[in-house]
Amino acid sequence: MGCLAYDADYAIGHGHQTTVRLLGFLDPYKRHLALALVLVIVSSAASLAQPYLVKIAIDEGVSAGDYGRLTFAAVAIAASLLVFAVASWAQTLLMSWVGQRLLLDVRTRLFTHLQSLSMEYFDRESLGRIISRLTSDVSALNEVLTQGLVGAIADLVVLIGIVAVMFQMSPRLTLLTFVMLPLMMVAARFFTVASRDAYRRVRLAIADLNSALAEDIVGMRVIQAFRREDRNRAGFEAVNRALLASARRSVLISSTVMPGIDVFQALGAALVLWFGGRWVLGADSPEMTVGVLTAFILYIERFFEPIRELMSRYDTLQAATAAGERIFQLLDTRPRIVDRPNAIALDSVRGDVYLDHVTFGYDPTEPVLRDVTIRAARGQRVALVGETGAGKSTIARLIARFYDPQEGVVRLDGHDVRQLTIATLRRHVASVPQDPFLFSGTIEDNLLFGRPDATADDVRAVARAIGLDAALAGLPDGYSTQVEERGSGLSVGQRQLVSIGRALLADPAVLILDEA
Ligand SMILES: Nc1ncnc2c1ncn2[C@@H]1O[C@H](COP(=O)(O)OP(=O)(O)O)[C@@H](O)[C@H]1O
Ligand SMILES: [Mg+2]
Repeated sequence: MGCLAYDADYAIGHGHQTTVRLLGFLDPYKRHLALALVLVIVSSAASLAQPYLVKIAIDEGVSAGDYGRLTFAAVAIAASLLVFAVASWAQTLLMSWVGQRLLLDVRTRLFTHLQSLSMEYFDRESLGRIISRLTSDVSALNEVLTQGLVGAIADLVVLIGIVAVMFQMSPRLTLLTFVMLPLMMVAARFFTVASRDAYRRVRLAIADLNSALAEDIVGMRVIQAFRREDRNRAGFEAVNRALLASARRSVLISSTVMPGIDVFQALGAALVLWFGGRWVLGADSPEMTVGVLTAFILYIERFFEPIRELMSRYDTLQAATAAGERIFQLLDTRPRIVDRPNAIALDSVRGDVYLDHVTFGYDPTEPVLRDVTIRAARGQRVALVGETGAGKSTIARLIARFYDPQEGVVRLDGHDVRQLTIATLRRHVASVPQDPFLFSGTIEDNLLFGRPDATADDVRAVARAIGLDAALAGLPDGYSTQVEERGSGLSVGQRQLVSIGRALLADPAVLILDEA
């Protein structure tokens, strides 16, 4: 199902450039980030203090028989726990809010951009893929840009803090802890590469699933009419199973990572316990105390945790970078049809249409129209008759400048339409497309689509003129009848009349009726 075609999309390299651009999304939230960072440092410090306080309790309280010191350590532990809880609660809340806000920003930006793109983009891009950009890809960004970024800094702070405290307590034991690091790094590197690949395949499969789903839902009536349920279910099941297979692989890898790294962590702890215990007993190094050893064991877990976190964050970063690349690819797609720098805006238009030796193909190498010349002066009605696929609808699209011809000129009132602003053109040229598309809302909403400020009288006048009045007579709610998505609930004829009314109400100088 289009797998190969999509592959190119998912195979883009992970440039630093993308990461930098992604960080740009955070620009409006610098203050929030700074505050979150402060909270992170406070909560990390509070959490780091605990094992050290345990050491004080054991060495200076219990071993030295000092009740005061013991009480101090216990109260300090309770206080640090409280600080930790409050600071990490505030930080999580803050970054989650920023994250949701960021999702809103990016989705709005993408949607706005989408609206600026030319038909040629929508011709080649599938609905499912576009929706994936605005939903799952955007969500993937959020995770890494907010929690991920602050979390990574927190991990680094904790790591540096722990190493400093451990070194201060016992450099020897600290070095012993480091023994496991290279092994962990190698293992992590292996998993990272494997899981990146697996994750990409999952995204690929999700995009395929979305595309298949979007198509089957839109075409459900045709599926049922031709009794294609079984075959389309088989088709759907194929993409569905492909998703299962890739998800299983991804899950296998991601669920192996943590236990795998746990093994090294446990070995590290055992090593420290064994050597440290011998040193406490006076075997080689007499200065080790029980308190230090206990604190060390407690620190080891906290030491490996940020390392594990950083590695998995790296993974999320990769995923987000891939999502970011697809988002930027959309944002970087330039519309083909744009206003020229000195485009002319016309207040009124006579409505003389002139196709001057126009050659055009959706694919420039395969012309659909060859050297076509048509004139339609103001007040004239010109009918184009031709076989299906001859290019009648294409001519309509060229007049409204949804595409530009490869050769020749389309003129409106003598102006090359490329010299006019798109707003002028679309204001004065209205078309009733071959497949009338209505939006959810009332019939009246749909009629007012092109001229929201029209009065109720204008609407009635147009409706009478085209017989829409009579056609809607049977509907209990008349103009207030709710039209569902894509106009379901109305007959095709009614839909087409509404579509004609919508075009007429916009009061265009040029009206194009495509098989209407
Ligand atoms: N969006 C499109 N992308 C690529 N080719 C298209 C597109 N729309 C139409 N075509 C092709 O252009 C030709 C003319 O189509 P069209 O103008 O719709 O014909 P008509 O309206 O006369 O039936 C057809 O061969 C069709 O395959
Ligand atoms: Mg047509």
